[in-house]
Amino acid sequence: MKKYMSSKKSFKLKIRKLLNKFIKTPEEYIQMKLPVVKITKRFEETLRNKVEHNVLGAEIREANSEDVESILNVYDQAWHSTTMPFVPITRKRLLSLLKNSAHIILIAKVDEIDSAFAIIYVTGDDKDIGVIGILAVDPEFQHRGLGTILGIAIWDYFIKMGVKELRCRVYFDNTASYTFLRRLGFEEDHEKETHKYVYAF
Ligand SMILES: CC(C)(COP(=O)(O)OP(=O)(O)OC[C@H]1O[C@@H](n2cnc3c(N)ncnc32)[C@H](O)[C@@H]1OP(=O)(O)O)[C@@H](O)C(=O)NCCC(=O)NCCS
Repeated sequence: MKKYMSSKKSFKLKIRKLLNKFIKTPEEYIQMKLPVVKITKRFEETLRNKVEHNVLGAEIREANSEDVESILNVYDQAWHSTTMPFVPITRKRLLSLLKNSAHIILIAKVDEIDSAFAIIYVTGDDKDIGVIGILAVDPEFQHRGLGTILGIAIWDYFIKMGVKELRCRVYFDNTASYTFLRRLGFEEDHEKETHKYVYAF
C-alpha cells in the first residue's frame, strides 16, 4: 500500500480517519446523476476513442464467488490511494452481494490481472434507476482509461436493463473521481428527495 502513497498523503489519510471517528457529516458526499438520454452513441464513441489506445484489451466480465480475493485486493488498494474514509467490505458481505441477483459486480482484467471492478444495482419504485455503488481501479492502472472503459460497460449494462437514470455519489474531496464522473457525463444532483436511492456498502 505504501508504495502508492506519499508520506504527506498518508498523514492526511490518518488525520481524516481520526476525524471520521468523531464527525458525522452526511454532506460529505456529492450526489451525481446521469440521465440515459444523454448517453448518445456519439458521446460513447468520443470517450472510447480517447481511452482505447491506453488500456488495450481490457476484458470485462461479471464476477462470481471465485473473484472475492481479486475484488477485495483492488478495493483495498484503490481506496487507500484516496483520502476517503476506508470502510472495509467483509468477505461475507461480498459473497452475499455476489449471491444476491440484485447486485452485479463487473470486473475489468488487463494483462491477465483483475485491475478494476464496479458494484452496481437497479433500484427505484419503477426499477429504472441504475446506481454505481462502488467503482475502483487499482492505482497501477489509474488514469490510463480503465475506469472509463468500465464506465462505458456500466452504461451498456444499465441501458439493456431499461434504466432511465444513473446515480452515484462522490466523496467531497475526491477530485479525481469527481472529474472522472463529470467526464462520464454525470452532473451534480441537488434534488434531495432522490438521494435515498444511493447508499453505501
Ligand atoms: C476515480 C477512478 C475510478 C477513475 O478511474 P481511472 O481509470 O483512473 O480514470 P480514467 O483513466 O478513465 O480517466 C478518465 C478521466 O477522469 C479524470 N481523472 C482520472 N484520474 C484523475 C486524477 N488522478 N486527477 C484528475 N482527474 C483524473 C480525467 O478527466 C481523465 O481524463 P484524462 O485522462 O483525459 O485526463 C480511479 O481513479 C479510482 O479507482 N480511484 C480510487 C477509488 C475511487 O475514488 N472511486 C470512485 C468512486 S465513484
